[in-house]
Amino acid sequence: MKKPVKVTITGAAGHIGYALAFRVASGEMFGPDQPVILRLLEIPQALSSLNGVGMELEDCALPLLHDIVLTDDPSIGFRETDYALLIGAKPRSKGMERKDLILENAKIFAAQGRSINDNASGDVRVLVVGNPANTNALIAASNAPDLANRQFTAMTRLDHNRTMGQLANKTNSLVADIKRVNIWGNHSMTQYPDISNCLIDGKPAYDLVTRDWVIDHMIPRIQRRGAEIIEARGLSSAASAADAVVDHVHDWALGTSENDWVSMSVMSDGSYGVSEGVVFSFPVTCKEGEYEIVQGLDLDELSQSRLKTSEKELLEERAIIQELLPKG
Ligand code: NAD
Ligand code: LMR
Repeated sequence: MKKPVKVTITGAAGHIGYALAFRVASGEMFGPDQPVILRLLEIPQALSSLNGVGMELEDCALPLLHDIVLTDDPSIGFRETDYALLIGAKPRSKGMERKDLILENAKIFAAQGRSINDNASGDVRVLVVGNPANTNALIAASNAPDLANRQFTAMTRLDHNRTMGQLANKTNSLVADIKRVNIWGNHSMTQYPDISNCLIDGKPAYDLVTRDWVIDHMIPRIQRRGAEIIEARGLSSAASAADAVVDHVHDWALGTSENDWVSMSVMSDGSYGVSEGVVFSFPVTCKEGEYEIVQGLDLDELSQSRLKTSEKELLEERAIIQELLPKG
């Protein structure tokens, strides 16, 4: 039997946390032979509800779930953890942009970055989901002086999956046959869903869809999809977000499929001319717990200008929270 992996979920009594915890515990994230210990972290006001989540987990009698820790103390929640899934934060409501949450949510990620630094495994991998996710990941990384920036990522996998879903519908194909879509930039209205390199059942996607459809319909739809769901549900996406968390961490830990890549927001290393010091979504491949940004893709003028727009927004977000970045 393998040694259990410790997984911390913050905001575990919230909508995404509730959809996620059971999937991690049942083996979907790390595979059917990998036991897990769940460390569920909430704020004091949500502890009663968190206790209910703990009871339900117990009632599932999941063979891979070796222990459950329920707490409102970050030093317990992050103790020796291998994976920290930072979900707990305020969601936006109708009419807001994700960056409108920045002042309210940013401090959570500064404190959690420090606590992860002091309590987690030295090899911890962090995924930030709470919005604005990219800038919150930058804050968490900057408050963890003993950890490497590459241990911190933010989630654009939901946008990636949304792009595959839209393409599958439009071309009447199976999602399983779609490869090499990717999201560039920020998890926001400026993100750039790119299908220039996409293959559908081995054929270039652009043989099956027109550039006008991509520019006038697909890209704006993906950029607005979060808001479209809030309009429809009165609440932000939760099950699809939890699903994307499972995908992101699964692929980071266990590797991406051959001849394909996924979208992850990671600390920019200057690839594709993107400024260092912002957490930007790139196409990446993963192997043995490490990601690499896919290099050498051609970017036409339109793509380059879209990347610049998203980079500019991330630099503006960074300026707003500059005082929360002790590493500089
Ligand atoms: P929710 O309000 O249902 O749940 C959030 C939970 O976090 C609550 O239970 C709350 O008590 C808890 N929480 C708040 N502060 C905390 C802290 N400091 N420590 C631990 N727990 C804390 O919200 P939700 O629908 O689960 O969404 C959570 C976040 O995820 C929001 O910011 C939302 O915008 C974001 N989100 C991101 C993506 C993405 O693709 N990156 C997708 C969907 C939602
Ligand atoms: C999403 O993309 O669904 C989330 O970021 C929630 C939101 O506010 O749009």
